[in-house]
Amino acid sequence: NNIDIAVIGLGVMGANMALNLAERGFSVAAFDINEARRTDIVKRHQPLTAAKLIAVADLAELIQQLDTPRRIVLSVPAGPVVDIICNDLIAAGLEASDIVVDTGNSQWRDSIARADSYAGKFNFFTCAISGGEVGARFGPSLMPSGDKAAWEWLKPMWQAMSAKVDPVTGVEIARTKVEQPLPEGEPCAEYIGPIGSGHFVKMVHNGIEYADMQMIAEVVQFMRQILGVSAVEVGEVFSEWNKGKLQSYLIEITGNILKVVDEATGKPMVDVIMDQAGQKGTGNWTAREALELGVPANAIAESVFARCLSTQKSIRQVGATKLAGPAVSIEDRNVWLEKLSDALYCSKICSYAQGFELMTAAEKEHNWTLDYVAIAKIWRAGCVIRAHFLDDISKAYQAEPELLNLMLAERFTNTLAESQMAWREVLAKAIMQGMPMPSISAAMSYYDCYREADSSASLIQAMRDYFGGHTYRRKDQDASQSFHYDWHFGTGEHKAQH
Ligand code: 6PG
Repeated sequence: NNIDIAVIGLGVMGANMALNLAERGFSVAAFDINEARRTDIVKRHQPLTAAKLIAVADLAELIQQLDTPRRIVLSVPAGPVVDIICNDLIAAGLEASDIVVDTGNSQWRDSIARADSYAGKFNFFTCAISGGEVGARFGPSLMPSGDKAAWEWLKPMWQAMSAKVDPVTGVEIARTKVEQPLPEGEPCAEYIGPIGSGHFVKMVHNGIEYADMQMIAEVVQFMRQILGVSAVEVGEVFSEWNKGKLQSYLIEITGNILKVVDEATGKPMVDVIMDQAGQKGTGNWTAREALELGVPANAIAESVFARCLSTQKSIRQVGATKLAGPAVSIEDRNVWLEKLSDALYCSKICSYAQGFELMTAAEKEHNWTLDYVAIAKIWRAGCVIRAHFLDDISKAYQAEPELLNLMLAERFTNTLAESQMAWREVLAKAIMQGMPMPSISAAMSYYDCYREADSSASLIQAMRDYFGGHTYRRKDQDASQSFHYDWHFGTGEHKAQH
């Protein structure tokens, strides 16, 4: 009973986490309900597994093998399976001080409920993970939350297995092959806060991921439809952009994807893939949470709606023949490529601002203390939205911890000032050519709404008071005073009774 940690669930994520931990020198007991998976992981990864990783046949053996307090990682599908395994573990002899870490894409409210229901039976902890299978194997971004004492037991392993960033340059020290040396650097694994907060932060990460992907797709569509640039050439532009301010994993893979040609048809691969986007729910949760908390995360929400709309292919096909649009023309790529990169960058500032605004609202609502410098730092490498941009965000919060909104950080206000006209021109052109850019235009309206010291909401208040006597406050009076105007009979304004 001296094994450091157990991993339950040996699908791609679980198996890769187990190998990652073993390679980092921790002893791992691996279990999966599927026997083939158990034997496979040990067989396929000799000699690493011979020294550090064993497969166990059942949960009783797993419990017996582990050092105490036991540390057990669950890598199983989010939802009821998590509870089935937790209850099986209790039945197999888990103790109150043992720590079970849920790493699935669980709903953050479910995590809070689970911590409550398992209190006294074991220590339910969560660790959201981003980075897909390569990340899990070579260095993911980790968002742990739960009991602080449990974190102290997990921290050395978590920080060892996570992605690493060069502390001087802020750039990921990438590793994607076993032959490459193990990187050292700043770990992308920091304690986020009480149970629920880690999965909330991961949910926001995914909302931002949706917006990033949608905005990239809109820009690619502009290049292909309005500029007439071929898929391969667009791919080259993206590979070029990946060397500059837009450097990020999603820009990089877009460049790679667009250069791939389908062997069967000779067409760009991207054109033979059905244009109906899937979604597993985390973007939807982010948009719903934004509505719940009253945070105007419109660019993120539009990216979820865009996926919904994409699935309406048959209606879109009818619309393409029946709904009128403008005449289209091909524009000069030399004029537009730079403007598109500015539009994308500005929109990105807004969608990240929305994500951070959402976390700030949740922090207040749930009494968490979120460290935005740390969150931006752990997203710099390992995760799907990894980008040099996140190093800039961490520096923005470092410089101004009480930042009201990310857009207002000096480094971003300057960029926005320089690039906003290009951003507007892109959108104006897209509108005149009838090409939808839902997420980028939502970002622009978010930006413009926050530039409005006096907004049109006065009229909304007047209408509410007109039809429903809902009262309003005056700009020239104390905020505690409410008024009602007698719009119907002209008897003027009255102080509202409380
Ligand atoms: C990550 C990803 C991952 C997510 C997929 C698919 O951070 O590694 O966010 O957790 O499951 O990206 O998400 P959708 O199916 O909703 O696109």
